[in-house]
Amino acid sequence: MIAIEARRPASIDCRQTPICNRGDLRCQSRRRKIAPLVTAAPFDLATQDAVAWLASMAAGSVDLVITDPAYESLEKHRAIGTTTRLKHSKASSNDWFRIFPNARFGELFRELYRVLRDDTHFYLLCDAETMFVAKPQAEEAGFKFWKPLVWDKCTIGMGYHYRARYELILFFEKGKRRLNDLGIADIITVPRIRGGYPAEKPPEVADVLIRQSSTAGDLVVDPFMGSGSVGVAAARLGRRFAGNDVNPQAVKVAAQRLREFGEGHVPADIAPMRDEQPDLLASLVPPKRSEGGVMS
Ligand SMILES: C[S@@+](CC[C@H](N)C(=O)[O-])C[C@H]1O[C@@H](n2cnc3c(N)ncnc32)[C@H](O)[C@@H]1O
Repeated sequence: MIAIEARRPASIDCRQTPICNRGDLRCQSRRRKIAPLVTAAPFDLATQDAVAWLASMAAGSVDLVITDPAYESLEKHRAIGTTTRLKHSKASSNDWFRIFPNARFGELFRELYRVLRDDTHFYLLCDAETMFVAKPQAEEAGFKFWKPLVWDKCTIGMGYHYRARYELILFFEKGKRRLNDLGIADIITVPRIRGGYPAEKPPEVADVLIRQSSTAGDLVVDPFMGSGSVGVAAARLGRRFAGNDVNPQAVKVAAQRLREFGEGHVPADIAPMRDEQPDLLASLVPPKRSEGGVMS
């Protein structure tokens, strides 16, 4: 991984930008369009195993981690056929999606704890089953667990027994850091994305977490970035981003999305997508990305 140049804008006052006139998170609910706060945000992408990638980073070099691993219970949903988008078929994309076993959470959390500087936050997106496995192991690594936040996706999804309309975001802390706005609710309401990268998250979810737990110029990290939604949110908010995914197709998608915000570092073997249309990507229905930000 190369070191990303720390380009902390001298003064970003979001009240002077087109997206916000109150300088806080809640203003998003009244906005239809989210525009970048700064024109270029540096990013650095990698195609490695998440733990190996984190191990290559300096201790205390990261300001915020938001990540959405390919946790084991997704495989279970696939096995019983409820998650058609994760089935192996011509029209789906399971080839993109290698599962990260629960047995590896210990080494993952130890590396995350090491790379985060003191007084920072770490958010882990997962389902309820994975929460019970992940929480004690993250605590064992040194994190303080505060609470699960809920991402309300507005419409039902997979499952037979009360179909899933929400996902959890486990909120952890290293040291002590105050949230930027103490008036934000623990339910984040943003419509799900349909037809995008498997399990793609709307950047508006990460947007809330980044605004709460970092400042402009900070380094936000996602070791399982998929299509780079966390990076997109970070770039819009003038944060630096370092992202990784074991799947080169994911890194291609993320690189294409992030190039809209400026040039960053992409592994040499990741060709720009305009030169190439991967079969799996071509098989996907164009994603319906929400544009409205957080719904009120
Ligand atoms: C749930 S998806 C992330 C989706 C992402 N949040 C988005 O909005 O597109 C999980 C990702 O983890 C990746 N992955 C699985 N095992 C990995 C590993 N050992 N190291 C790094 N990435 C891995 C998969 O390729 C997949 O892209």
